[in-house]
Amino acid sequence: MTATPPKNDRFLRALRREPVDRTPVWLMRQAGRYLPEYRATRAAAGSFLGMAKNPELACEVTLQPLRRFPLDAAILFSDILTVPDAMGLGLYFVEGEGPKFERPVRTHEDIAKLAVPDMDRDLRYVTDAVRTIRRELDNAVPLIGFSGSPWTLACYMIEGGGSENFSKVKALALNDPAAMHKLLDVVSDAVIAYLDAQRQAGAQALQVFDTWGGVLSPSMYREFSLRYLKKIAQALPRGAEKAPLILFGKGNGAYLEELADTGAEGVGIDWTVGLGDAARRTGGKVALQGNLDPVTLYAQPEAIRREVGRALDDYAQGNGGSREGHVFNLGHGMSPDMSPDHVAALVAAVHELSAR
Ligand code: CP3
Repeated sequence: MTATPPKNDRFLRALRREPVDRTPVWLMRQAGRYLPEYRATRAAAGSFLGMAKNPELACEVTLQPLRRFPLDAAILFSDILTVPDAMGLGLYFVEGEGPKFERPVRTHEDIAKLAVPDMDRDLRYVTDAVRTIRRELDNAVPLIGFSGSPWTLACYMIEGGGSENFSKVKALALNDPAAMHKLLDVVSDAVIAYLDAQRQAGAQALQVFDTWGGVLSPSMYREFSLRYLKKIAQALPRGAEKAPLILFGKGNGAYLEELADTGAEGVGIDWTVGLGDAARRTGGKVALQGNLDPVTLYAQPEAIRREVGRALDDYAQGNGGSREGHVFNLGHGMSPDMSPDHVAALVAAVHELSAR
């Protein structure tokens, strides 16, 4: 893919910590059930997976939020659990219960059987979606590809779905760290191949979602999550053709210095850490992405605008008075009952209050 910059390249410039006219903004889960047009496409597709596995429909829902709001990036519509699904675990969704696997990983034999999926065969629908979206976007804004982190994928693979306390995956890590590392090694190889396939198909930036890293103790976080985030950051192709990498982690506030040293270009943070503190602690080594509490979207537009201003100014204070190197986002994903009008207010506030 040739590296013609998108017409709106604020997001890519901010990830390089270059000057921009306004702080770029996109929102985790910007495509989703809070949009009536998403619900209509999903109903027509019959299911979430039917939609995600159809490149034309995945493209349609990726573009829906961009038609409504002047967002500065698109994110591929897919799911982090496509990778374990392609590894043979059998992903399905139960209405109201979230994702589940037919064949969770439980034994040494289960781990020994895991292999890196064939990207061209087993995950072709994802790279086809990336190509379709790039064509339809026509370089208006950059497209973000993504993957789950090895630890977060391991949580779902071993628990067999969502979990309250992660007892199975933590017990395996504690009882049999060698087996856990064997699993994380093959999953991280799959993540690297998956992200690179998305980049080659046209994704212009990559994000890793470490949704469950924050449930670990510090020593376990370093051993079972951070180590593999670093492996990914080091293994992905570097140089001029490289798509910048953002490491997002819920509850990663204690590890910002270490995340800034992984080699990633950006670190995504949740709302429990101040952007100013985060900027001071990372000292300009990475761009920072975040971090408005998503629940702010339930407040009135005036309150949303005030909190956006506070976040923008907090970042600048910690960043030597400059707004550069900040990508505005929520601290975690949006919820289905949020108001599109409030999203419009948020996006407008970011652009207006950050105009240079
Ligand atoms: O940000 C975006 O708009 C891109 C699309 C995206 C989805 N999932 C679509 C989706 C992304 C980036 C994800 C990542 C993902 N999936 C994560 C990590 C992100 C984070 O928030 O930290 C996780 C943990 C998953 C696993 C998963 N998939 C869950 C927990 C659910 C929710 C189940 C439910 O019933 O709400 C999904 C399904 C899913 N993935 C939906 C969407 C829009 C909802 C599906 C629907 O019912 O339409």
